[in-house]
Amino acid sequence: MNILLLGSGGREHALAWKMAASPLTDKLYCAPGNAGIAQEAEIVPLELGDHAAVIAFCRSHKIDFVVVGPEAPLCAGIVDDLEAAGIKAFGPSRKAAQLEGSKGFTKDLCRATDIPTAAYERFTDAEAAKDYLRRHGAPIVVKADGLAAGKGVVVAETLQQALDAVDMMFAGALGQAGAEVVIEEFLVGEEASFFALCDGETAIPLASAQDHKRAFDNDQGPNTGGMGAYSPAPVMTDEMTRRTMDEIIVPTLRAMSALGAPYKGVLFAGLMITSDGPKLIEYNVRFGDPETQVLMLRMMSDLVPALVAARDGVLKSFDLRWYPDSALTVVMAAKGYPGDYEKGTLIGGLDAAAAVEGVEIFHAGTRAEGGNILASGGRVLNVCGLGKSVREAAARAYAAIDRIDWPEGFCRQDIGRRAIEREESVT
Ligand SMILES: Nc1ncnc2c1ncn2[C@@H]1O[C@H](COP(=O)(O)OP(=O)(O)O)[C@@H](O)[C@H]1O
Ligand SMILES: [Mg+2]
Repeated sequence: MNILLLGSGGREHALAWKMAASPLTDKLYCAPGNAGIAQEAEIVPLELGDHAAVIAFCRSHKIDFVVVGPEAPLCAGIVDDLEAAGIKAFGPSRKAAQLEGSKGFTKDLCRATDIPTAAYERFTDAEAAKDYLRRHGAPIVVKADGLAAGKGVVVAETLQQALDAVDMMFAGALGQAGAEVVIEEFLVGEEASFFALCDGETAIPLASAQDHKRAFDNDQGPNTGGMGAYSPAPVMTDEMTRRTMDEIIVPTLRAMSALGAPYKGVLFAGLMITSDGPKLIEYNVRFGDPETQVLMLRMMSDLVPALVAARDGVLKSFDLRWYPDSALTVVMAAKGYPGDYEKGTLIGGLDAAAAVEGVEIFHAGTRAEGGNILASGGRVLNVCGLGKSVREAAARAYAAIDRIDWPEGFCRQDIGRRAIEREESVT
């Protein structure tokens, strides 16, 4: 098969690495890609918002299958457009992608289907939203309805913070995404990321993961796109996985089919594991980043036939195998991220780092220039380790980081620490 992968981050590098290893892959292209992905795929400079250009490329290069990484093109209907042009594509339709594109849509679906989630209301008017906040008090959570690249949620510890968040969103700070807000109950528990591969009818659980959202050690500092992750997530026991499938994922697929928008693709449930069991925080309609980097390291089965089976609606008879090992990734970011940071700084030592046993390095924001690798984004590298335990996986990843020479970068030193403490309290 000739496959085109869309996206340019660490998630896409991990997917490209896994797909390139498939015997089913003849030729792999990636648009727009990055310097790491270029080691696995031929990079094509396509603008993902230009669906006609993507379709034209697929025709001229005899692409059999398109895999869409990020949410924005999915919510913009790229899968609908590709399929209408007769090109098979992995990912949800525009209508099904509302599960990520509109938090209000998902909350209403949960309410109508009895899916466990935080209590909530939707608002298009600031005064009504503020009345609701005053009646409920803090802590409380204010969310922009639409896609906001991780900047649309305020977990307010005080009423004033919540009122300010409503003003900020309705003032247009997040553009159209904040024209409607969802206000919801504050949930207490441990978070986990849960992934299921879906073909419209059937869902197969993938592995679970936990990520680290804050920029600095001990969960301090601003929120980021994710500074590290590990898999499996100890909190996702077999029982929690079963309940998540039965109480959240399966009812969602049923409801989406009933709406005439059967869900195909990866369904990524952000969960809060509460004392009452799993509750849905939000859905994403694509693979997680950086969770995918650790999932791909643990996946024993071939990814390509699994994605094709999801697209073709034949997952029922499918079986996926995973290595029992733990995988962990540490994100190296440019100093200043998630605020302003420098671009174009030189990264050295990557080959020596990749030579550490059990280590794989995925690029998130890099470009190649004159034989050098330069940083070109906020999150720049995903240094991943695989090991018999989270401790071993972490030791390998950090040993590789010690060999990377990039003075303008930083990373958290405590990725996986809680899981390691848990491992060590058990043994
Ligand atoms: N109801 C809630 N209770 C407690 N924390 C929440 C709640 N909703 C969101 N959060 C926190 O805010 C983060 C971001 O919220 P989420 O809905 O996942 O939005 P997004 O990922 O689109 O920014 C979550 O990972 C979680 O830490
Ligand atoms: Mg989230």
